Amino acid sequence: MRPTAYPARVIALDRELEEHLELTRDARLGRYLDFLRIPSISTLPEHAGDCRAAAEWLAARLTEAGVEHVAVEETGGHPIVTGDWLHAEGAPTAIVYGHYDVQPVDPLDLWESPPFEPIVKGDRVQARGAADDKGQVMIHVPAVGALIATRGSLPVNLRFVFEGEEESSSAHLDAWLEANRERLRADVAIISDTSFFDGNRPAITIGLRGIMAAQVDVAGPAVDLHSGTYGGTVENPVFALATILAALKGPDGRIRVPGFYNEVRALTELDRESMRKLPFDEAAYLELTGSPALVGEAGFSTLERRGARPTLEINGIWGGFQGDGTKTIIPAHAHAKITCRLVADQNPETIFERLRLYVEDIAPPSVLVDVKFLGGGLPSLTPIDHPATRAAARALTETFGQEPLYIREGGTIPVAASFEQILGLPVVLLGFTPPDDHAHAPNEYMNLRNYETAIRTIVRFWDELAVAGDIGSDDEAGGPRYP
Ligand code: BES
Ligand code: MN
Ligand code: MN
Repeated sequence: MRPTAYPARVIALDRELEEHLELTRDARLGRYLDFLRIPSISTLPEHAGDCRAAAEWLAARLTEAGVEHVAVEETGGHPIVTGDWLHAEGAPTAIVYGHYDVQPVDPLDLWESPPFEPIVKGDRVQARGAADDKGQVMIHVPAVGALIATRGSLPVNLRFVFEGEEESSSAHLDAWLEANRERLRADVAIISDTSFFDGNRPAITIGLRGIMAAQVDVAGPAVDLHSGTYGGTVENPVFALATILAALKGPDGRIRVPGFYNEVRALTELDRESMRKLPFDEAAYLELTGSPALVGEAGFSTLERRGARPTLEINGIWGGFQGDGTKTIIPAHAHAKITCRLVADQNPETIFERLRLYVEDIAPPSVLVDVKFLGGGLPSLTPIDHPATRAAARALTETFGQEPLYIREGGTIPVAASFEQILGLPVVLLGFTPPDDHAHAPNEYMNLRNYETAIRTIVRFWDELAVAGDIGSDDEAGGPRYP
């Protein structure tokens, strides 16, 4: 493999450390690719063994890097990998979070190369998990490895928490955090599971949406019926479901579930102004989607709609005959999967209850309808002016040669709110993947320049954090405050 001349813009770290990173580059890439070969899909029960294998593999890499007390801990679901290094007396303590689980790979036929056989094409590593989130986990591990190898110590204290259920709503994480609250004492949490901004501009994410997932099951006749014999006399559940779904949103893009917007925190003029100032190319964004047009809630810009307003989406719908040709039936049942993205101060359980009541209310009496809760995660807003965020901004500027943008992402990382609420920690969302990384989709990739430079960013960040001062005070919580 021909070594590429990345990173392009790293400024001087200590020379020995930079030399070490240069010498170990090929070995590091090899390790990263090995990680990507483990099909750790957390939602599919048949991959439970692979999730455990990924956890064991990662634990071995942490130990190799010089991290102490490395353990693969049971949660009742897929295990959590932990480890620490706590010898920087008087310096701040940070939790480093990432996830080793990945999304399913379908549709397989759209992948240019098999999802668990990573390939390197120019500056790209392509495989499931290359960006989300194995690539970002494998930024942190070599960063501490290089520090310990060349200096014999770290400038800050670190506790690693790598989970294996992020892509399936982090079902066991909160209970584990509660049970280990004392052991996890820290000053700040760093989550590397977000992207750069459009145009691959360095970014610090300051807002994430929450999520509520539900399933609607509609039942009609006891079995499929002949649509000639019975058509016109009994309800068709697929039709009833379509009627229900059509009533969830109005032509103005507003969600019609009563009370849906009750707790939504309004955007301040400052919030709106800072989003307006982001260098966002609407036409390029539309092109990226491959969609004929953009839609959404009236009165809000595209960036506001994707980062700071709640949504309701139908993720899947099924029922009746799906094969070639015609089958003349009235199907017995119909189903839909729904998720809502939530913003501060919405709560997934409350939103679910309102959705359930509304669906039951509008369902025709000619069918039975059942609405099930499939999981949730809280939204989070992280402080823009916390000393740890400022340290991250300096580290990004020094290594990528550009000041970061402060952005709100539409996606969800349930642990962000859990770190704030269960452990009382401020969170810094410091992620490095290119914005068009195809996460969750075919041909997911990581940019190797970002990857290599990010390792230097993390090293620099720990050095910056050590001298940032005032990290422990938590009176900065409460969401973005723009500079
Ligand atoms: N890394 C993503 C979250 C993310 C997406 C951050 C886009 C920034 C931009 C994470 O792995 C993810 O996909 N989360 C799921 C959570 C769900 C399964 C509970 C999501 O957002 O759908
Ligand atoms: Mn992720
Ligand atoms: Mn994901």
